[in-house]
Amino acid sequence: MGSQKMVVLTGYETVKEALVNQAEAFAGRPVIPMFEEFMKGYGILFARGENWRVMRRFTLTTLRDYGMGKKTIEDRIIEECGFLIKRIESHEGEPIETTGLMNGAVANIIVSILLAKRFEYEDPTFLRLLRLFNENARLFGSPSVQLYNMFPSLGFLFWTRKMVLNNRDELFAFIKATFIEHLKELDENDQRSLIDSFLIRQQEEKNRTDGFFHNENLKMLVGNLFAAGTETTSETLRWGLLLMIKYPEIQNKVQEEIARVIGSAQPRTEHRAKMPYTDAVMHEIQRFANIVPTNIPHATTMDVTFKGYFIPKGTYVLPLLCSVLQDETQWEKPHQFYPEHFLDSDGKFVKRDAFMPFSAGRRMCVGENLAKMELFLFFTSLLQRFTFQPAPGTSKEDLDLTPLVGFSRPSAPYKCCALPHS
Ligand code: HEM
Repeated sequence: MGSQKMVVLTGYETVKEALVNQAEAFAGRPVIPMFEEFMKGYGILFARGENWRVMRRFTLTTLRDYGMGKKTIEDRIIEECGFLIKRIESHEGEPIETTGLMNGAVANIIVSILLAKRFEYEDPTFLRLLRLFNENARLFGSPSVQLYNMFPSLGFLFWTRKMVLNNRDELFAFIKATFIEHLKELDENDQRSLIDSFLIRQQEEKNRTDGFFHNENLKMLVGNLFAAGTETTSETLRWGLLLMIKYPEIQNKVQEEIARVIGSAQPRTEHRAKMPYTDAVMHEIQRFANIVPTNIPHATTMDVTFKGYFIPKGTYVLPLLCSVLQDETQWEKPHQFYPEHFLDSDGKFVKRDAFMPFSAGRRMCVGENLAKMELFLFFTSLLQRFTFQPAPGTSKEDLDLTPLVGFSRPSAPYKCCALPHS
């Protein structure tokens, strides 16, 4: 890539050998000029060494403990499903484009964990925040930023680089103002959000000069979680609805299972174990959607000999997830939407080792459990209430499953009708 050497790993066996069997050696992140300038090694996504370890451990613990004894994450997602359903109902079956709605609903879950609040979908501050994150995600994948990454000394020529940094500064100003607000009402015995928990740790560490709970890490961590946790989940949900419209017989079978197991009650995560077909469909949506096809880049943390090749410490490594999720040695129909990949001949759910949309090993997604909970609750709540159909004048045959090109892999925009399901 430019003058940089890069190792690309493909296929389930190879990616697993690196990320799982030689986990420590492949747990680094490469130095990429735009990410370095943006994140300065703070937060989690592009952090390394002890800073990464401390921030990752803190995030995993906080996500696990969040809401104990108070409103749990599950309750918050259920509440948000209610707002989303109301909003979809208000369209009374007229065609809708779901990108903004899904993004708003999913972003509100992260906002609730980070800030202990939710925004109305049309709140101008919320819309501005979403726009900044979406714009930066798009710019990070743009040819101009790729070029800057190859020739950083020419940085002053690239206006996109400047836009990314301006967006970052605006985001940071918002995050900083928010945590200064939180600081005023901080109560060790009533930690309302991840920001509260971070600020408590900061106060405990205030006499240390070598601690990690400083404002730079707080701003970056909040930014990382928002960026990593919103578009991935909302785009997977949009793929899910698109596939249900394309394959109405599969949508029917999911709705039958919802009616049989949940009836008109509120879907909850405990229902999942009793719903093998829906579980298989959800897994197949993630496999087919293949939302982070190239993975986030890794780097070697030490010199390593891998499959007979010597790879020096600090080498840029891409363990391609698309090559695992579509590995022809692992999947019966790798390029088709086929929920039977996850069902045995008795209709029971079966786990598949090559199901790796969250990657694997030391860097595996920290939001996996949260994302799975969101996907199940949003998906079942929507299909319990609505049947999704193509917009008038189009048919399921017209629906295009070709994804948009970028770092993530969203479906092309589409309109659909949500009709009441009785
Ligand atoms: C990392 C996928 C949702 C936070 C990752 C990685 C993938 C991924 C492929 C890269 C792992 C690697 O480098 O090997 C997904 C998918 C999601 C999702 C498919 C939803 C369907 C979330 C959510 C959060 C989140 C909801 C927020 C809590 C993160 C973070 C990392 C990460 C912080 C960086 C981990 C590290 O570098 O140690 N995710 N993710 N993700 N994800 Fe997710």
